[in-house]
Amino acid sequence: MNNPEQLKEKVHDFWNEASCGEELFLKGADSREQFQNQQKRRYELEPYIFDFAQFGLHHNKKVLEIGVGLGADHQQFAASGCELHGCDLTERAIENTSRRLHLFGLKSNLIVADAENLPYADKSFDLVYSWGVIHHSPDTPRAVAEIYRILKPGGETRIMIYHTYSMVGFMLWFRYALLTGKPFRSLSYIYAHYLESPGTKAYRIDEAKKMFNVFSDVHISIEYSHGDLLSKEAGQRHRGLLLTLAQRLYPAGLIRKIFPKYGLFMLIRAQKNS
Ligand SMILES: C[S@@+](CC[C@H](N)C(=O)[O-])C[C@H]1O[C@@H](n2cnc3c(N)ncnc32)[C@H](O)[C@@H]1O
Repeated sequence: MNNPEQLKEKVHDFWNEASCGEELFLKGADSREQFQNQQKRRYELEPYIFDFAQFGLHHNKKVLEIGVGLGADHQQFAASGCELHGCDLTERAIENTSRRLHLFGLKSNLIVADAENLPYADKSFDLVYSWGVIHHSPDTPRAVAEIYRILKPGGETRIMIYHTYSMVGFMLWFRYALLTGKPFRSLSYIYAHYLESPGTKAYRIDEAKKMFNVFSDVHISIEYSHGDLLSKEAGQRHRGLLLTLAQRLYPAGLIRKIFPKYGLFMLIRAQKNS
């Protein structure tokens, strides 16, 4: 068993090895073209990020992105003319994102920082954005409390965390519980051990509502990730014959139609009371 500090170190080491998508798209990237290709593919696979983040809406606003990773979303915010800050647990993500912004002549205040202990003053941001980050941190409710603390009254947060009842979860359970003769392994166990960094969590909608209950106007929706649809890029960590075969046979269109609520991505928008 890891204590939270040991677990956080493991999370750090996992993402410091390669930022999210780096292995697939741009190991050692140092050209505008490589970053542009990564960006193009990201938004082809996850086009709903635009609607959710509304990058262009925050002109002149003070915006923080937590967990910048390779920096595609951060680039969009930087280009929108807001007063931009960004942080990540890993040095690698900050280097990648700084290099990216530099290549495009864009600016942000980027630092290595932990979502559970944000080094920003109370009530300082209009928007705190974070895509696929705080469920990796050992104490996710603490990260939510930190976001609340640093938001101005009336400020807004837009956060994506993982959703428990997803096709990704069911497929990983099939592979790492059922096929290994351990059907009593829970979905929580599967996410923590087989999806991305150690200790990754996923939430049911009622759990997310509870976690965000200090906010007002909480809106939650579910989207399919490219992992749920077994697209070509799925499985940075799960390559092999079984996956290739499944990708060939998987009826992605049908799954999306029949089970529209079983996506991995839970999109949360919430406001701090004025
Ligand atoms: C799946 S990646 C997502 C990156 C980016 N938002 C994206 O959509 O590509 C998760 C990121 O969260 C960062 N992260 C994990 N725990 C964190 C924490 N406690 N504080 C800040 N960043 C964290 C990791 O370093 C990694 O860059």
